[in-house]
Amino acid sequence: MQILGIDVGGTGIKGALVDVQRGELSVDRQRILTPRPATPDAVIGVIQELVDHFDYSGPLGVGFPAAVLDGVVKTAANIDHTWIDYAGEAHISQVTGCPTKLLNDADAAGLAELRFGAGRDQPGVVFVFTLGTGIGSALFVDGRLVPNTELGHLYLPNQAHDAEYSASERARIELELSWEAWAANLDAYLHHIYGLFWPNLIILGGGGSKKIDKFLPLLTVPVKIVPAELGNEAGIVGAALATELLYASRV
Ligand code: BGC
Repeated sequence: MQILGIDVGGTGIKGALVDVQRGELSVDRQRILTPRPATPDAVIGVIQELVDHFDYSGPLGVGFPAAVLDGVVKTAANIDHTWIDYAGEAHISQVTGCPTKLLNDADAAGLAELRFGAGRDQPGVVFVFTLGTGIGSALFVDGRLVPNTELGHLYLPNQAHDAEYSASERARIELELSWEAWAANLDAYLHHIYGLFWPNLIILGGGGSKKIDKFLPLLTVPVKIVPAELGNEAGIVGAALATELLYASRV
């Protein structure tokens, strides 16, 4: 079965048809720049463009860079603030005519990694972090997702800003950090996470994980850390998967 998965990011909106039995894209993905300002109407317009591009009708999965509760967007760190309390799932369904599942983008990537990637058959406490415009987090306990964890917004001791301000891929680029300096920030973040949650495994994904060889050897946190196997496409695959998997179901 092929389902259209869409990953709304702070910089790009990507979509592809996904073979949900195999966890793979069945066509080349399409990427459209995120409109500025990224208001609900503008973003839903791009989602409609992707639906038209693939001449698609059917269930639609959309990963979104915010906490999403029962289809309603609750936060807006890297997207226009008019999304807050906006019934995104209902509006996307209405505009596209496709029954839609809207969920947090990192949760979507996590669902894909736990089902088809580096988190397959992994018991215990598993984190998937996406390093991109922000830091997305997905927490799994024995394969079950705890949705909307929003751990990119943790404050580390003695810091007066969200961790994603210094440890996201955007931070590395915009603050012009060396790999060493950025890896130190990421390491401090992961040590903090380690001391709070004691995970068995950490999977790193998102655009920032493309060059993982540059920073993985510099991380000192005493837990197994592996790259996302589905890479930056996990968000698209997971969004498609979410149309058939309920949050509380086992992945
Ligand atoms: C948002 C999260 C999102 C993450 C990655 C954060 O700023 O608050 O909801 O998962 O960025 O896009």
